[in-house]
Amino acid sequence: MSETDERAMRRALELAARGPLTGGNPQVGAVLIDDTGAIVAEGWHRGAGTPHAEVDALLRLAELGRQRTDGGPDASGLTAVVTLEPCDHTGRTGPCSVALIEAGVERVVYALADPDPHAAGGGARLRGAGIPVTEGVLAADAAELLRVWLTTIRRGRPWVTVKWAATLDGRVAAADGTSQWITGTAARQRVHEQRAENDAILTGTGTVLADDPSLTARGDAGELLPHQPVPVVMGERTIPPDAALRRHPAGIIETGTRDLDAVLRDLSTRGIRRVLVEAGPGLVTAVVAGGFADEFAVYLAPTLLGGDRLAIGDLGIPTLADARQLRITGIEQLGEDVLIMAEPRED
Ligand SMILES: NC(=O)c1ccc[n+]([C@@H]2O[C@H](COP(=O)([O-])OP(=O)(O)OC[C@H]3O[C@@H](n4cnc5c(N)ncnc54)[C@H](OP(=O)(O)O)[C@@H]3O)[C@@H](O)[C@H]2O)c1
Repeated sequence: MSETDERAMRRALELAARGPLTGGNPQVGAVLIDDTGAIVAEGWHRGAGTPHAEVDALLRLAELGRQRTDGGPDASGLTAVVTLEPCDHTGRTGPCSVALIEAGVERVVYALADPDPHAAGGGARLRGAGIPVTEGVLAADAAELLRVWLTTIRRGRPWVTVKWAATLDGRVAAADGTSQWITGTAARQRVHEQRAENDAILTGTGTVLADDPSLTARGDAGELLPHQPVPVVMGERTIPPDAALRRHPAGIIETGTRDLDAVLRDLSTRGIRRVLVEAGPGLVTAVVAGGFADEFAVYLAPTLLGGDRLAIGDLGIPTLADARQLRITGIEQLGEDVLIMAEPRED
């Protein structure tokens, strides 16, 4: 692995991180370097339907006047350094492998092979065209950047973050069912940010009927943020025609079922990669018991309620030795409240 390739890959990873977290596609960056290692053009993917990183970098080449006689970008003498294997399929855009071959690229370096069977094969096509390919440069760094996306591809379902707001004694509602608001404004603003980082919000009919939430992602002044996750309602009951969710700017998906596995798989086919669960104990318990929770976002307020309205109901755990083990991944103080992020331990 050459130092030049590594340096270029570091830059490509920085560019990749500029891409959106939401949407079906991974964050990918690309740089085109000459034989001295100098960067000639850069690109990154800005989301589904826009050019892939390699093509974005090739477009910059054309702007620099490096064009073939047919008007396409001329990458002769250049090495393409990409964070993910160039795709080999035609979706909303054409295959990147073909674009690189047509541009006359001299060599291709990438960090990770594409685990998506629909997109993989770019490396093989490039090699077949006689272009030397190096795989695995800074692969661990690329895998860390794409951790959520890689997990969604492996499991065939979205990454699921389960969020709740509780009192210090773990209660999510009072005896009369009220839960708005357990936490203060700073914590609630952080929830809006988390909503905007997700493709969908999964809730239960119980929450819709009890709280009539709007589940929009809003800024400090109450304004709608540019990205709105679509609300998805789990449960067999229908929700009222005048429910606030029906006015959600991203629309609404009413599933009419309790089958979490089927719903999550269906969301995946719609390009939904990140789901935030904002529900009461009924749905949250089902998500956790079913092993669908990849991450927890637990907001704790310095209050006590007592009673039986716990965040999670029975998980069928008979004894302490069988407790679900989590790893704390982050702690934030938000005004008087605390946000604890945690993930299930792999071991
Ligand atoms: N503090 C917080 O963070 C927070 C957040 C949300 C809600 N809450 C509070 O929670 C309370 C509502 O609790 P809840 O448990 O009724 O709300 P919920 O979890 O949102 O809804 C429960 C309903 O979801 C449906 N459902 C869909 N899939 C399911 C599955 N796989 N397993 C079980 N149920 C499934 C069932 O309805 P069907 O009969 O229609 O199938 C069930 O009755 C309210 O007091 C609300 O204020 C607190």
